[in-house]
Amino acid sequence: MPQRSSVLDRVLVLEMVRVTEKAAIACRAQVGRGDEHAADAAAVAAMRDALNDLDFDGTIVIGEGERDEAPMLYIGEKVGRGRNEGGIGPKIDIALDPLEGTTIAAKAGPNALAVLAIAEEGGLLNAPDVYMDKIAIGPGYPEDVIDLAKPVKANIEALAAAKGVSPSAITACVLDRPRHEALIRDLRSLGCGIMLIGDGDVAGVIATTNPDTGIDIYLGQGGAPEGVLAAAALRCVGGQFQGRLVFRNEAERARAHKWGIEDLSRVYKLRDLAKGDVIFAATGVTDGSLLAGVRTRRDGTVTTESVVMRASSRTVRWVRGEHRGLTA
Ligand code: FBP
Repeated sequence: MPQRSSVLDRVLVLEMVRVTEKAAIACRAQVGRGDEHAADAAAVAAMRDALNDLDFDGTIVIGEGERDEAPMLYIGEKVGRGRNEGGIGPKIDIALDPLEGTTIAAKAGPNALAVLAIAEEGGLLNAPDVYMDKIAIGPGYPEDVIDLAKPVKANIEALAAAKGVSPSAITACVLDRPRHEALIRDLRSLGCGIMLIGDGDVAGVIATTNPDTGIDIYLGQGGAPEGVLAAAALRCVGGQFQGRLVFRNEAERARAHKWGIEDLSRVYKLRDLAKGDVIFAATGVTDGSLLAGVRTRRDGTVTTESVVMRASSRTVRWVRGEHRGLTA
């Protein structure tokens, strides 16, 4: 039986969509304009305003950066109407990326999203802004069919065996980066299909949960904050995810210690990244495998497509919004 009681009020489910919708609509005018900063700034300001309208006492645990590098939605910032005085709504932790895929948005590419996840206090890993090695598959496979500690070949063969197909029938999604040269070579040598994406690995990981995308597995290094967001989504829809933080220098290791991370080589599973009840919401900024982007009809109506999911009930809602009196 699904466990339903948590401090995450059901009402918050739809409120979360309003938050991601506002961020997506606010940055739509910047899509294809070549200015990543302007696109991100518009989404950040709108998401912050929307969060501050809501009845909760929220703390950003994954946001735009540390306080000295991000003026808004920095890690540790309090949001919601309970931020100044306690007692207004539940205490929640928030992971967000008002514009996941800033480069995508600037170039009008696919899969830019406004995303957030909320959990009860302490429910989300306070991940430093470093890289994370990731492996993810969708639901329906035996537990631990994938193992980040094993070579790519072993993982592909195990997944293919679980699917009852040959390794060459497996399609992997990988960020198109020079650091993935060896990974791509290994996948090619197994005959796998590879969907190389320019950016946006939150959508890349979630794509493994949707058979229509044809993607069986996500592999490679992306941002650790994006890993927590993707894990929150998989907690709601099912699937498996493992991540290990990657440190390139002493400064990055120091950042992890600052956030209380002691074991730097730990492999995190879904519940280590997002535990307890979790709500995940995303609105498309540009068209992609998960969601359609923001559009403006000839009569001025702005349309949005969003998804909102909750871990405790495993409910997934697809929300089409028609917004009148707004400009995107
Ligand atoms: P931003 O929205 O912060 O630009 O992130 C886009 C993204 O592609 C993420 O989806 C991914 O996790 C990360 O960047 C990969 O980092 P890098 O571009 O340094 O390889």
